[in-house]
Amino acid sequence: MEGPDGSGKTTQIDLLKRYLESKGYDIVIAREPGGTAIGEVIRKIILNTEYQEMSYMTELLLYAAARAQLVNQVIKPALLERKAVICDRFVESSAVYQGIGRGLGVDTVYEVNNYALGDVTPKLTIFMDLEAEEGIKRKENQTELDRMELEDLYFHKRVVEGYRKLAALYPERIVSLDATLPIETIHSMIVEEVEKRFFKG
Ligand code: TYD
Repeated sequence: MEGPDGSGKTTQIDLLKRYLESKGYDIVIAREPGGTAIGEVIRKIILNTEYQEMSYMTELLLYAAARAQLVNQVIKPALLERKAVICDRFVESSAVYQGIGRGLGVDTVYEVNNYALGDVTPKLTIFMDLEAEEGIKRKENQTELDRMELEDLYFHKRVVEGYRKLAALYPERIVSLDATLPIETIHSMIVEEVEKRFFKG
């Protein structure tokens, strides 16, 4: 599940999890950055507002390091047990935030992340499409902003544009949904995509 901050990823993940569990599936939820003890420590380093000096390459490698741990400790074992894994952000976040937002290049991001992912690739990516301004507005009530959220509107606009570009490049893999639609409508659309890809044919 991908999208800018404030696009409603977590709400939709909860709904999808409940839906799939009601169908009898074992579901594992993983969140990035984090999702493991080591990953949560890395998350604290990445998002700490005191580390304004962090180079973009360091940031990319830290996200990739947390991802490598998540893949090996959580995702791979779950898939081996035939469980379904829903990830709150994954490699596409790095492609747009570090590749496009930070300007490191999407190819560089995928190259680095190949080491973290090994043979694990997402079968379906849902992109919750929301204008950057709207995402920021939705987060306004939050008291403390992290290091990424403190970036200016221009950065967040590049992120949203980046997601749109990626979704246009890989329409088979990435499904864009309008995040301003009602929660239940979006949920039904996600269920439809999941059923089409995983339950039929
Ligand atoms: P997230 O946990 O989704 O934020 P929150 O819980 O505050 O909604 O993600 C934290 C931030 O990290 C978010 O701004 C997006 C950013 N991010 C990257 O820049 N690259 C990545 O690879 C990932 C996974 C997240």
